[in-house]
Amino acid sequence: MSVSVVILAAGQGKRMHSDLPKILHRLADKPLLEHVVNTASSLQTADAPIVIFGHEGGQVQHALAHLNVHWVPQTELLGTGHAVLQALPLIDKNSRVLILYGDVPLISTATLKNLMDTTPKDAIGILTAEVPNPHGFGRIIRDNQNTISSIIEEKDASAEQRLLKEINSGIYLIPAQLLKKWLPLLQNNNAQKEYYLTDIIANAAKENISIHSLQPLMHEEILGVNDRVQLATLERIYQKQQAEKLMRNGVTLYDPSRIDVRGELMIEQDTTVDINVIFSGHCKIGHHCTIGPNVTLHNVIIGNYVEIKANSVLDGAEISDHCVIGPFARIRPGTELATNTHVGNFVEIKNSIIGQGSKINHLSYIGDSDIGKHVNIGAGTITCNYDGVNKHRTVIGDYAFIGSDTQLVAPVSIGTGATIGAGSTITRNAPADQLTICRSQQRSIENWQRPKKKEI
Ligand code: UD1
Ligand code: CA
Repeated sequence: MSVSVVILAAGQGKRMHSDLPKILHRLADKPLLEHVVNTASSLQTADAPIVIFGHEGGQVQHALAHLNVHWVPQTELLGTGHAVLQALPLIDKNSRVLILYGDVPLISTATLKNLMDTTPKDAIGILTAEVPNPHGFGRIIRDNQNTISSIIEEKDASAEQRLLKEINSGIYLIPAQLLKKWLPLLQNNNAQKEYYLTDIIANAAKENISIHSLQPLMHEEILGVNDRVQLATLERIYQKQQAEKLMRNGVTLYDPSRIDVRGELMIEQDTTVDINVIFSGHCKIGHHCTIGPNVTLHNVIIGNYVEIKANSVLDGAEISDHCVIGPFARIRPGTELATNTHVGNFVEIKNSIIGQGSKINHLSYIGDSDIGKHVNIGAGTITCNYDGVNKHRTVIGDYAFIGSDTQLVAPVSIGTGATIGAGSTITRNAPADQLTICRSQQRSIENWQRPKKKEI
């Protein structure tokens, strides 16, 4: 029996106090709704998930245009039952409907698979949880056989019902046929004047449809975001999960509460990560690396035995085995470092290929360059890659030695084994194996006097 996923996401999220619709607020730098869509997609249901959107719909669709979903508008927010009703025309009557929420981002694939696997085909499956503070949630009402007979919303509950600790997560798996039968008949004679999806549970109990309840694998999975305090709470829960996954796979974290993973991250075993490291985009890191404190890594591929020292920023780079980088290095997109390359403090490298064993250890800017192997770039070397209009490349052959404080005005090429004298401004190609030097002769002026301070 196929499963159709419906994600409710039409609420505006007033308590966020924001111009941005709630579901576009970001958890681990990804919109809340995108987390839920990705989890739904991981279930590999036949059809793309249906998203019920409302408030600022254009903004949501525009921001999430890359997602493979069916967008269904709910123009008036008349309640969760009314929201699901909007999706019904798109749903095959022989399927089962899994209901999720755009603002409940931590729900896991494993819990949802559990729900799908354990709920009998003609039954209703529901995720519930026992929580110490059930305030704000719908309560699960059970009869004396302990079967679920209804769900009562907090605002409609009696004082006695409010003491119940078993809450409704709002996540259900329901045969489409039952939704098609019951949803059009929902009434809104309740405290909020809304069409409650929860009312179908009482229908099911009345018609002897069996209701199967299940707890999520982790109770945090069903937490929702209503304000920025909850958003920050969920961010910390998410980050703790990422940190624990890394440690279980053999990565040492000096403090699991002080790293942030905002994207896809793979790290192999025996790599050590110091505090305040931020990984974002897609990062792949090998084994036996050490990553120092306050390092920022975005879209990088890093080999094995690489050392990245404190306060370095790497973006869009490929780093081979045994490289040593930083402290305070900045490596920008399009950079590839071959094995054993050393990049030291206050060095910026952009869109450049650096050969094996080359060293750029101090205070340099290397942009749009092809540098061979075992090249030594002296302190303060600058590639002048931009003429104010176009970018040009600098090519440096193997074993070259570039003296300190050299400017290489591109396009220019330095031959294999060439030496450039310190302080040169190189505007023409330098031949292999020779010393090229370009600076005025040193002279000393006898009898020269320092200026004297004027008397006033
Ligand atoms: C709902 C459940 C409650 C459960 C809780 C779990 C109902 C009646 N109550 O209550 O039992 O404990 O979730 O968090 O279902 N939405 C729409 N269109 C609407 C109304 C809501 O898309 O017309 C979306 C909202 O954006 C939100 C979600 O549905 O993501 C839940 O709606 P909300 O009104 O917040 O329901 P709760 O009061 O939290
Ligand atoms: Ca809610």
